[in-house]
Amino acid sequence: MINRRQFVAGAAVSALAAPAILRAQSGGFTAFPFSLGVAAGDPAPDGFVIWTRLAPDPLEQHGGMAMAPVPVTWEVGTDESLRTIVARGEEKARPELAHSVHVELTGLQPDRPYWYRFRCAGEKSVIGRARTLPALGSSPRSLRFGVAGCQNYEDGLFTAYRHIADEDLAFLYHYGDYIYESWQGGVQTSHSGLITTPVRHHVGQRCQDLADYRRRYAQYKTDPDLQRAHAFHAAFHTIDDHEVRDNWAGDSDTTDTPPELFRLRRAAAFQAWYEHMPVRRALFPRGPSIDAWRGARYGDLVSFDFLDTRQYRTPHPCGDDFLPPCAALTDPKATMISAEEEAWLVRNLSRPQARWSCVAQQVMMMSLDRRTADGPAPILNMDSWAGYEAARRRLLARMRGLDNVIVLTGDEHQNFAGILADGDTPVAVEFVATSISSGGDGSDRRRGSDRILAANPQLKFINDQRGYAVCDVTPETWQTSFMVLDQVTTPGGALRKRAVGTVERGRAALTMS
Ligand SMILES: [Fe+2]
Repeated sequence: MINRRQFVAGAAVSALAAPAILRAQSGGFTAFPFSLGVAAGDPAPDGFVIWTRLAPDPLEQHGGMAMAPVPVTWEVGTDESLRTIVARGEEKARPELAHSVHVELTGLQPDRPYWYRFRCAGEKSVIGRARTLPALGSSPRSLRFGVAGCQNYEDGLFTAYRHIADEDLAFLYHYGDYIYESWQGGVQTSHSGLITTPVRHHVGQRCQDLADYRRRYAQYKTDPDLQRAHAFHAAFHTIDDHEVRDNWAGDSDTTDTPPELFRLRRAAAFQAWYEHMPVRRALFPRGPSIDAWRGARYGDLVSFDFLDTRQYRTPHPCGDDFLPPCAALTDPKATMISAEEEAWLVRNLSRPQARWSCVAQQVMMMSLDRRTADGPAPILNMDSWAGYEAARRRLLARMRGLDNVIVLTGDEHQNFAGILADGDTPVAVEFVATSISSGGDGSDRRRGSDRILAANPQLKFINDQRGYAVCDVTPETWQTSFMVLDQVTTPGGALRKRAVGTVERGRAALTMS
């Protein structure tokens, strides 16, 4: 999809993609203002969003900017050195939005790469690259895209993003947990119970207000591997819990914070998210709310439904941890997505506009018994769809007979692949992509994984290492490759393709190799 010439262009981008280079005072800035890089997102057949934020001193108050609007020019071209410019303009980077800039490009040609750059006061950003999607009426023969998320800065390096940048992708799907609002304060307990020291430290304590969230995004965005991945690929971004607060659900944060206070945190978190993500104006926050669920289509090959599984959740019926079922597990009033979102999703799934329907969401849809030792009752991940069993069954029943649904998920900090069933009838295949860094190094099999595989026949694969997934789609076949790193706690983690899951269109069945 991307030819050799464009890979050479990629090399040019990488050479420029140095982080926060301090420079002699020029153009009114005491330091390089594009220290957080550039990004593109929400690609469509006629354009995409390009983003940057001026932050000469990223971790300081207001990113080191004065409280005044600053003009930023942008240009879009058809070659990697921007010799042929096809669009240009000027936007004001305003203090109300942390001097971020979002430009919603239209009028571009479908299914081709473009390059873009920002300028301000004599300074130039790196050149980013993004592809438009194919025309809606077209019939692409293939699609290759990436899946990533869960990037706790304290748990590990973003080495996976360096490899994502090198992949030949049409775009990246980011399932959320782009930042972690938490603060480990020096030590943490790993999955094995060992006390470990964070690999890197969050600046500041747990995020509470807008300034905290802004600084957290700024810290993450200074990572050179993350900047590099953004410079190479447009992304569809969705939200999970850590953009706001661990395991939040609707108006509740699981720690008895009064809803009206929690909504203040949501408003601050969503504003900072919008300021730092390459998303469309349609996602501009309205106080504590944001319209994050939306769709996209890759010609007639794949239709994507990007879900929001946080804002419209009812409180966890049986708690938010790994717990045995309680009587409320099948409460039909417990919802994971809003009624409007569910109706939209069911409508899209039942009248498919493409060969494949991809439900791109956050938390696991399979209900797995997570017991790793003897116990009287199954243990479920109550923060996932398994904790909202009535809503889960209702949605899976609507997938019956469709035979072309792929569910993409994150959140688990492990790789999983398995079958989703309505009763005993397989209806879809779910691929759960591991974390970029959350959970630390991991190992091929976490303790108890063999027992989980044996107890859950619908589950075909588990791996507990960091990385990302790549999906290769043709009209007949969907393949998801699980790319894993041997470690993320020191630089230079080695990448390998751990496994590939293959689905043939017309059968909700999965072959692992
Ligand atoms: Fe996470």
